[in-house]
Amino acid sequence: MRIYKTKNYDEMSRKAANIISAQIILKPESVLGLATGSSPIGTYKQLIEWYNKGDLDFSQIRSINLDEYKGLPADNDQSYAYFMRHNLFDHVNIKSVNTFIPNGMEADVEKECSRYNAIIRSMGGIDLQLLGIGNNGHIGFNEPSDSFAKETHCVDLTENTIQANARFFSFIEEVPTQAYTTGIKNIMQARHILLIASGEAKADALYEAVYGPITPHVPASILQLHDEVSVVADEAALSRII
Ligand code: F6R
Repeated sequence: MRIYKTKNYDEMSRKAANIISAQIILKPESVLGLATGSSPIGTYKQLIEWYNKGDLDFSQIRSINLDEYKGLPADNDQSYAYFMRHNLFDHVNIKSVNTFIPNGMEADVEKECSRYNAIIRSMGGIDLQLLGIGNNGHIGFNEPSDSFAKETHCVDLTENTIQANARFFSFIEEVPTQAYTTGIKNIMQARHILLIASGEAKADALYEAVYGPITPHVPASILQLHDEVSVVADEAALSRII
């Protein structure tokens, strides 16, 4: 595991965008695993800037997102499909047919999960998986639990995650309580994992993920078993580590 410490969120975003750019330049047909949330917004902004300068080409890139709220249609401005269009896809030359996100409106859980797992398999796996980390150590929406969920599944979000996500909604009652997420096996099969974290609220989770015991109660701790993990985090998020 390589840990890159940055001064702040902006520097974290630039460094993370550098790693993603290198992947795109070295392998223009890469499969990128993408995340939503506040952590990657700056990274996506930086990638858009370099794309506008002519330094990046997404025309052969395929992307697979980690998760989507269950029950939100893709045109709802809180859906992750909307987030990805707004924060990245609409601003670069990625082909929309090459972007994949779980279908939050599919009520048949088994059908949606096997459809999504089949997509990941058909792509030959993920070259670079971008991850944020929840305050409780979740990755994707793999919440703390007694076992690691392997592939795409539907989860009940924890109270902690619902509270953390409430900032994006007008009323807490509007925050979805379930989500589709890829599983720990899907994530761990990525060739390279890039975990980004910013702010003091992430310090405990990051510490547990990097130094704590490997346990499904801190899902990100499984990353200690992966050979190619880069953590890019700012001083505040790393305050308990270095
Ligand atoms: C989002 C995702 C989540 C977030 C995590 C951190 O696609 O999978 O695991 O990465 O909740 O969220 P932020 O970045 O908003 O602190």
